[in-house]
Amino acid sequence: MKPFIYLFLVFIAGVLSAQTLQVKDLSCEHKVNPVGIDVRQPRLSWKLNSDTRNTIQDSYEIRVATKQDFSAQSLVWSSGKVKSSESILQIYKGKATESGKRYYWQVRVWDTNNKESAWSETAFWEMGILLPTEWKAKWIAPGMPGDTLKASPASLARKEFTLNKPIASARVYVTAYGMYELYLNGQRVGQDLLTPGWTSYNSRLQYQVYDVTEQVRQGKNAVGALIGDGWYRGTIGFDNSWNFYGNQLALLCQLQIRYQDGSQAIVGTDETWKSTQDSPVRSSEIYNGEVYDARMEKKGWDVVGFNDKSWHKVRLVTHTFSNLIGSAGVPVRKIQEIKPTKIFRTPEGTLVADMGQNMVGWIKLKVSGSAGTKVVLRHSEILDKKGNFYTANLRQAKQRIEYILKGEGEETFEPHFTFQGFRFVAIEGFPGEIKPENLTGIVIHSDMKPIGTFECSNALVNQLQHNIRWGQKGNFVDVPTDCPQRDERLGWTGDAQVFCRTAGFNMDVAAFFTKWMRDVAADQYSDGGVPFVIPDVLKKVMKGTSAGWGDVALITPYTLYQIYGDKQMLEVQYPSMKAYVEYIHSKAGKSNIWRGGSVFGDWLFYRPGINSHPEPDGYTNNDYIATAFYAYSTHLLKETAHILGKQEDESQYAKLFEQIRETFIKEYVTPAGRIASDSQTAYVLALMFNLLPADLKPMATQHLVDDIKSRRNHLSTGFLGTPYLCHVLSDNGHTEVGYDLLLQESYPSWLYPVKMGATTIWERWDGMKPDSTFQDEGMNSFNHYAYGAIGDWMYRVVAGIEVGKPGYKHILIQPQLPSDDRLTYAKASVNSPYGEIMSGWEQKNGQLKVTITIPANTTATIRLPRSNASDIKENGQALTAANKSAKMDKDTTVIEVGSGQYIFDYPLK
Ligand code: BGC
Repeated sequence: MKPFIYLFLVFIAGVLSAQTLQVKDLSCEHKVNPVGIDVRQPRLSWKLNSDTRNTIQDSYEIRVATKQDFSAQSLVWSSGKVKSSESILQIYKGKATESGKRYYWQVRVWDTNNKESAWSETAFWEMGILLPTEWKAKWIAPGMPGDTLKASPASLARKEFTLNKPIASARVYVTAYGMYELYLNGQRVGQDLLTPGWTSYNSRLQYQVYDVTEQVRQGKNAVGALIGDGWYRGTIGFDNSWNFYGNQLALLCQLQIRYQDGSQAIVGTDETWKSTQDSPVRSSEIYNGEVYDARMEKKGWDVVGFNDKSWHKVRLVTHTFSNLIGSAGVPVRKIQEIKPTKIFRTPEGTLVADMGQNMVGWIKLKVSGSAGTKVVLRHSEILDKKGNFYTANLRQAKQRIEYILKGEGEETFEPHFTFQGFRFVAIEGFPGEIKPENLTGIVIHSDMKPIGTFECSNALVNQLQHNIRWGQKGNFVDVPTDCPQRDERLGWTGDAQVFCRTAGFNMDVAAFFTKWMRDVAADQYSDGGVPFVIPDVLKKVMKGTSAGWGDVALITPYTLYQIYGDKQMLEVQYPSMKAYVEYIHSKAGKSNIWRGGSVFGDWLFYRPGINSHPEPDGYTNNDYIATAFYAYSTHLLKETAHILGKQEDESQYAKLFEQIRETFIKEYVTPAGRIASDSQTAYVLALMFNLLPADLKPMATQHLVDDIKSRRNHLSTGFLGTPYLCHVLSDNGHTEVGYDLLLQESYPSWLYPVKMGATTIWERWDGMKPDSTFQDEGMNSFNHYAYGAIGDWMYRVVAGIEVGKPGYKHILIQPQLPSDDRLTYAKASVNSPYGEIMSGWEQKNGQLKVTITIPANTTATIRLPRSNASDIKENGQALTAANKSAKMDKDTTVIEVGSGQYIFDYPLK
């Protein structure tokens, strides 16, 4: 061999061996190192890190042990080398998992070039309590006569106990009917807020598990809990009623100690606990805020030696243990802090702090003054036309914090069982001069991992994206709510359905929706109908099912399957999905038209009146909407049956879909592609749900476009039509009109609220009118995520990141540009189950640069718009030389690629 060839080969070998293949980001049941799960065979996911293009996993090996050294005796499962490219949600198939046990796991992989990774870092999961009989603690109720009254003081409960041997580890399993905060030896346990969260309590009550090894000690200990009303028995729902689930607060707490000698001890709630209602939390309610009298604080109540003689014994109460479940969702936590941007007096003289952002959480107050001084904070989303503090749109929700000082130097206060939706805070009774450092905005929400970003050259669109994110932050507080401020804050099914795809781009919502979808199933009526809100706290005043709302039962699990590849989500939800379609089927019968099925119609569609525009309203016939959704849900059920291999169901629902479609066409569609209910939403639903004969699609699309043009590029859609509007346009050759709508700045449009200074998404297109007066105060939230569903189009069409195969195992990168330079660049990223996907484009002087990242263990189809394959350079080289797959589809170059980073450059056609 010639020396230089030899050296070259040595060099190449060196380069190859330096290439990395690693396993990273291990997760279990969509969580990182979860403690207290009750899924007996958890599913394990990992990502590959590789600096080589086209990396695909060829095989993997998982090992699971009860000891971190993975010693032979501790091994409970070794998968062996499994030939598979699957790297997400692989089911644990080892020895039966046991309550309270921690399982350590690692994975290693081989790629298709037979390169082997090292074992990954060690991750773990820990089981919760798997059997009802393993609960040794008893349910206790503070049991004071006054604690069943409306907005009564929160109760304190406590117990001292002795641990007489050196401790190896300690866990606490805790839940409540009501809300609780747990304390051990003077320290708060965990960082979770509003626990145990909101579920359909009668059938599903979550418990939380905390590792408290560091908080307990050999010798004497004290445990205490503060228990408040919460969703369980506080004011909730439309009629401002309380005691919805029950009138008696109760606590269940089981502390499990493992001593170093291997023996165990359990300290649980029982009749020896003592309680008082003489607590500083005089009342605390979700809508109404909190009254806190710091003079009533019981110093040392949660440490050893406190004199609780005057406290009374708790009562034992009977509750089942069989509805107890591990926490599947994502805990609510303090996520960020913000400072007021200014403090000022309104024209009416109110002292107001502006937080600069419509936020959800509360104010952390710092104050010094004499004992008995009362500081009141009121919260509002917006100032009125004259600049005065405005609370009429909160309806009966008081959102009021009253803090009574104890007079002991600087006092810091945060409320306990409540949260507020606000940008402005009115301050009354503050002793001395208030400064920004006295007020900190504590932003709370379900602690979902941010996974997506979107940015483009239009600053207003970027603010829109900001507003969408903040709408998600404020309304993903354990359940997906419509709004976070007025006396509502409910899990409206329609809103969740329209927004879930966008939500899944911005943040990891897999666990969040896993929990909530099970509540959808739990609260589903026995006839298969789906309540308006989940958990269903409206059933006493507003029982029913509405098209577009109930369809959450299908649309959300199906969407989550697409973005997270979670097939089990479909398996678990399948009975609920099918029951819902069968419910509609029973209503529509042979007619195939779901008459009376739409209660809310295309909620909040455009109605003229606030401006001088002559355009007609955007009304869509309700039975038309109901029938369209009937068809769509039937289609999704058929698709799901296919995915799950339920062949009989698949063919049955395929047939049903065809029947509905045929009737739909007969009933509503003219041979010229015009729709009987002549609205934008009507066209949008028919096109989106594939209800039209192929030859009528272009005509129907044209009617839609004509309508938009006749409204001078304005939309007229409501909750149901809006999310799909731009998709229908871009799917049918009218991306340009989609951009007209996205970039429209005047009402009604997405950017109109942005121009009016919005920092979140509004409930109504015209929440604040151009003259700064308000829409109907009875329903005018300034933080409602539904119209934020346009985010989905920004990610999928503007930046062009689309699912090819569920979970993004195959990715489509297919940005659609405006025909001019209205946008000069756009870029988005999504940290998918396989890793970071990126797509960005920039146009300059007729030249387009497209930058793409495809994660390891996936493949992608890239569509480069307005190109000539022969003009394209990939990382500086002619594309056609580098990639043999390049094909033309009209003016788009289509190529197949594997993982890696790609930069394409070409002159725009
Ligand atoms: C809620 C909505 C919900 C609607 C049903 C409203 O009060 O805020 O977002 O979907 O009712 O029509």
